[in-house]
Amino acid sequence: MATRTIGIILNGATGRICSTQHLQNALVPIRDEGGLIVGDDRVVPRPVLVGRGADRLAEIAAAHGIADWTTDLDAVLADPAFSVMFDAGVTGHRGAVLGRAIAAGKHIYSEKPVAASVAEGLALLRAAEARGLKHGAVEDKLYLPGLQELARLARGGFFGRIIGFRLEFGWWVFDGVDEPCQRPSWNYQRAGGGGLILDMYPHWRYVLEGVVGRIGRVVSAASTATPVRVDERGQRYAVDVEDTSVTLIELESGACGTVLSSWATRVRRDDLFTFQVDGSKASAVAGLHRCWTQTNAQIPGTSHVNVATDIGADYRAAWDEVVRPGPHRNPYRIGWESFLRHLVAGSPIEADLAAGVRDIALAEACYRSMAEDKWVALDDVVQPSVRA
Ligand SMILES: NC(=O)c1ccc[n+]([C@@H]2O[C@H](COP(=O)([O-])OP(=O)(O)OC[C@H]3O[C@@H](n4cnc5c(N)ncnc54)[C@H](O)[C@@H]3O)[C@@H](O)[C@H]2O)c1
Repeated sequence: MATRTIGIILNGATGRICSTQHLQNALVPIRDEGGLIVGDDRVVPRPVLVGRGADRLAEIAAAHGIADWTTDLDAVLADPAFSVMFDAGVTGHRGAVLGRAIAAGKHIYSEKPVAASVAEGLALLRAAEARGLKHGAVEDKLYLPGLQELARLARGGFFGRIIGFRLEFGWWVFDGVDEPCQRPSWNYQRAGGGGLILDMYPHWRYVLEGVVGRIGRVVSAASTATPVRVDERGQRYAVDVEDTSVTLIELESGACGTVLSSWATRVRRDDLFTFQVDGSKASAVAGLHRCWTQTNAQIPGTSHVNVATDIGADYRAAWDEVVRPGPHRNPYRIGWESFLRHLVAGSPIEADLAAGVRDIALAEACYRSMAEDKWVALDDVVQPSVRA
């Protein structure tokens, strides 16, 4: 068996998601296990860490036994030893960074959103394809155990006809005054690529379409619950993006559902993310890791509300938990393995850049629905050639 080393530029390597999920939980274990078996090859990732802080880069590199790190992105883009560029830097720099990598002839794999707009994403896609470069986008959430279960139920026809859904996500993110803010400040500034819709709706696109079917049209409302925050340096700044949003979604099938997302809500539901799917035969509710079902035969006999007394019913009792034995694989590692197989053996990849562009299209359709005060069809903001 031959060993094939793939040089991978990790841009944004000091960031939260790159240093933990992509490096520590995906690429390092693949390397430490001797590589990913693809056909007759052992594919071993060789990362070079790229970021702004030399000390932090050196620290992360040392922790994982990585020889290569730099603060000079141009230098590694010019280095033929590294054929892949992975970007997990701040969202606001994404398009420019990927554009430079494509111009340098690198295959690209990208965190979401893959660009700031559908137009920018399409330009990147065309440029990558014109140069014959491979491309992939991170779409990790469907690999979570709860969502895997929901998708499996949908594929197996458990729900009957899907008639509705409700996705709820979020928690309280402190403003940084009394308690430190749990998220980077660029998340709350337009110039940094912030905004809850641009940040989270790319996930909701593939999660929704992967479970309940293709999205037809959307209408959104959004607001800023926390207008002033304190950044990493202790400076107050004005939040100029939404941190709360409500979206109605009509599927191509005609079924309707809601998506509620907020960085200003206190959690009193099964998980930080919950997704309920209702069908003519049954329903299911998934959290990130768990999933519960209820068939028509299990529905408690509700006929009317009792205005005089609380009847003390436990509406959660008549649901069964669907148990899948673990251990479950890390969702980011699944994404990397799929991308590496695509890269070295041309295996089909579902989450390519075109899928990433459709992910942005959902965010863009929601923003447009607010700007134009109307329902917006998803296909009106994305060209037919990139419909996933
Ligand atoms: N797939 C997911 O679920 C998921 C989760 C979190 C983040 N992300 C995405 O990953 C990317 C990074 O997010 P994060 O939470 O790790 O961010 P982060 O702020 O922790 O890290 C981003 C990186 O960019 C650098 N950086 C920060 N501000 C910068 C600036 N002004 N100029 C240049 N560099 C700067 C940081 O040093 C770091 O290396 C974002 O695009 C985000 O959407 C995806």
